[in-house]
Amino acid sequence: MASSFGAAQVLVASNRGPVSYEVREDGSLHAKRGGGGLVSGLSAIGPDAGALWVCSALGDGDREAVRRGVGEDGVRMLDVPADVHADAYNGIANSVLWFVHHMLYQTPLEPVFDAEFRRQWASYEAYNRAFAEALAEEAAEGAAAMVQDYHLTLVPGMLRELRPDLRISHFSHTPWAPVDYFRLLPDDIAGQVLRGMLGADRLGFLTRRWADAFTACCDALAGGLGSTEIGVHGLGGDADFLRKRSHEADVDERMAALRDEIGTMPEGGARRTIVRVDRTELSKNIVRGLLAYRELLTRRPEWRERVVHVAFAYPSRQDLAVYRDYTAEVRRVAEAVNEEFGTADWTPVVLNLEDDFARSLAAYRLADVALVNPVRDGMNLVAKEVPVVSDAGCALVLSREAGAYEELGEDAVVVNPYDVTGTAEALHEALGLPAGERAERSKRLAAAGTALPPARWFLDQLEALRG
Ligand code: G6P
Repeated sequence: MASSFGAAQVLVASNRGPVSYEVREDGSLHAKRGGGGLVSGLSAIGPDAGALWVCSALGDGDREAVRRGVGEDGVRMLDVPADVHADAYNGIANSVLWFVHHMLYQTPLEPVFDAEFRRQWASYEAYNRAFAEALAEEAAEGAAAMVQDYHLTLVPGMLRELRPDLRISHFSHTPWAPVDYFRLLPDDIAGQVLRGMLGADRLGFLTRRWADAFTACCDALAGGLGSTEIGVHGLGGDADFLRKRSHEADVDERMAALRDEIGTMPEGGARRTIVRVDRTELSKNIVRGLLAYRELLTRRPEWRERVVHVAFAYPSRQDLAVYRDYTAEVRRVAEAVNEEFGTADWTPVVLNLEDDFARSLAAYRLADVALVNPVRDGMNLVAKEVPVVSDAGCALVLSREAGAYEELGEDAVVVNPYDVTGTAEALHEALGLPAGERAERSKRLAAAGTALPPARWFLDQLEALRG
């Protein structure tokens, strides 16, 4: 039997991989490496030591790379048929499971679990099976397979059947829904998700709160956890990387441009900044953030001409109408605020929808206040990163519904994300914090937010899985 096993000792499986390809006009393929916790975590091991990342081919460029046999050592891209991937990723993962765990449904009309849903679910199963089969093929005997996120909840159970010898984990990068909300899913589907995950030896969550919600779902709907262990691993920011990267020349350039856009107060000195950086995605609550800023300018007119809301909202999942509509709403509300309050030399909201990491870091450095107000969020790394990078130390306005709240709540100004007036007052409080206190708090936020950097986060889980 052993001869049919693969060579990989550590395998990571995720929908989005560490690299993506673009076909250039001359027909050549251009590779772009992504960032994020898993990338730095896995590179701490590397292909030489038998690490392999199994991910999905996501666009035409990736598919072309698979076809031409182009790839990186240590990465295997799966070219699942585009329609199967679209059903699994857009239809199930981002329209159903993401909505359930972030509690985003407007329940009088949604969700509707009908024949179309069942059809898409079959694609989700096929998609998960493709991953399970690839992992089974590549894994050495007794290897560790670390499956990621809501796209791949069925993989642990499927892989367990194919390869009982493996150590299998699954990590949820999202919140987990409370039992009563999780039960929106049809019973058989809810059961399949839980049993799929319970095929793992070990399940990881970002906070105790999400781990407890999962356990409650298993107690109510699956007869408990069985022999599966639960671990909590609160992914933090990478302080060394952030400090270094945020002082490179391209960030300095963008800071200068941004300073011009922000401008100076009537009495001189740079205007204060309220900074947010998100994917434009419904759980991030960008619209209520803008409405709170509007209320700040109404209730506290002393801030007019003296503050700018720098809102970077990078479009995401634009194949789906609900995400496109949300992006349009963000733009509409930002423009309305600018129309209502803007003057000849003051633009109250500087909105930018074009993804640019260096410009995000420039905004972090200039932040007086960071606004992180999601309706629900697995962790939220922006909350952890801005205090590390901001030049003068920043105040953090933080939703109590973000996973990061468990670690940062004490030194943040905490808000109920639905309470727009409360958020406006929190912004006022944060803007008014005395410089000394702000710097102290920012230092503590930065320390707490980087306590578990990505490589450590990954290796801790690997160690725990290997036992
Ligand atoms: C969340 C998920 C990740 C996902 C990311 C970006 O953080 O937990 O799995 O990769 O969003 O979303 P996208 O749909 O662009 O991969």
